[in-house]
Amino acid sequence: MSKPIRNRLMLGILITAVLFGLSGCLSQKTGSDEGDEYNGGLVWNNWTKSIAGGTDELPPGVINKDFLRCKACHGWDAKGANGGYVRRSGFPEKDTRPKPTKGTDLSHLLGRIATADVEHVNGRSWTTENNKMPNLTQTGGLTYKQIDDVTAFLNKGPKIGDIATIDISQKPVKYTFKNADPASGKDLYAKSCQLCHGADGNQMEVKLIDYFRNDGKYSEGFHKIIYGADEQMTRAVAGNLNAKQAAGILSWIQIQADDTTKKGFSQ
Ligand code: HEC
Ligand code: HEC
Repeated sequence: MSKPIRNRLMLGILITAVLFGLSGCLSQKTGSDEGDEYNGGLVWNNWTKSIAGGTDELPPGVINKDFLRCKACHGWDAKGANGGYVRRSGFPEKDTRPKPTKGTDLSHLLGRIATADVEHVNGRSWTTENNKMPNLTQTGGLTYKQIDDVTAFLNKGPKIGDIATIDISQKPVKYTFKNADPASGKDLYAKSCQLCHGADGNQMEVKLIDYFRNDGKYSEGFHKIIYGADEQMTRAVAGNLNAKQAAGILSWIQIQADDTTKKGFSQ
């Protein structure tokens, strides 16, 4: 290779590298939706927790954490007032947690939500505790990574709406799982859940059969199986399941929970 050609080649590589680096910096500053949707599911639950990348402290002046949690207004399923949280008690009946209102159903937006929609810079201040969307960029708010991750959760993270239709006119909310395979769900339960929850689902403080009989709980259960419930029950220890596998387990649980004579699962 002659010298001038080699030099031009080197220059080209250098320019490409600089542009590449620059675009990386810019996307870090403005946020992108290329985050980690699984961490985003933990942010959705409670972004102030260290397990979700938070500091374990509430922002200055905040008294009730539920006015900060995405799921408290938008529901576990992001269907807000049209999902599992349709009968969620709260403001104005209770002043410690918000009540999902019109506008909290995000299902028509999933797949095209921008980080700016999440940041909501024109939103309310932390200390005005009401049903309105807070400005999440205030002091003590989300990190850029958390904003990226929760945007990715909204756009591509599994939701129960992917695998079930939800009828909120029934009480408890009626979930119909699409193409679910309860027989494989039974095997998966034995493999991924039984060690901690027991064959009957009653080994721990939370009794799974009673849990799922409560209003709207398949939305919460699905979220916690896929994304994790807390430091003990993480996504990894629950088997890194996908939506179809979770649907199998939930449909197997449902057959038994709907039988009101049962006090636990039978294998
Ligand atoms: C106290 C209730 C509340 C909390 C907490 C809350 N939101 Fe919202 N959010 C709303 C309401 C109400 C709307 C619709 C009206 C509006 O745009 O303000 C909304 C709208 C949105 C939208 C759509 C914005 C648009 O431009 O269309 C997104 C995305 C969103 N929220 C994401 C989140 C995320 C992510 C979190 C948690 C980090 C969160 N929200 C926390 C109440 C809340
Ligand atoms: C390593 C032990 C472990 C495994 C494995 C495990 N869990 Fe859990 N699970 C827990 C613990 C601990 C809790 C209590 C956490 C809490 O309530 O915050 C819990 C809570 C739950 C809850 C209630 C969450 C809530 O709202 O509080 C459900 C539902 C659940 N598990 C279902 C499952 C299913 C289904 C599987 C299998 C796919 C599974 N778990 C696997 C330990 C485990």
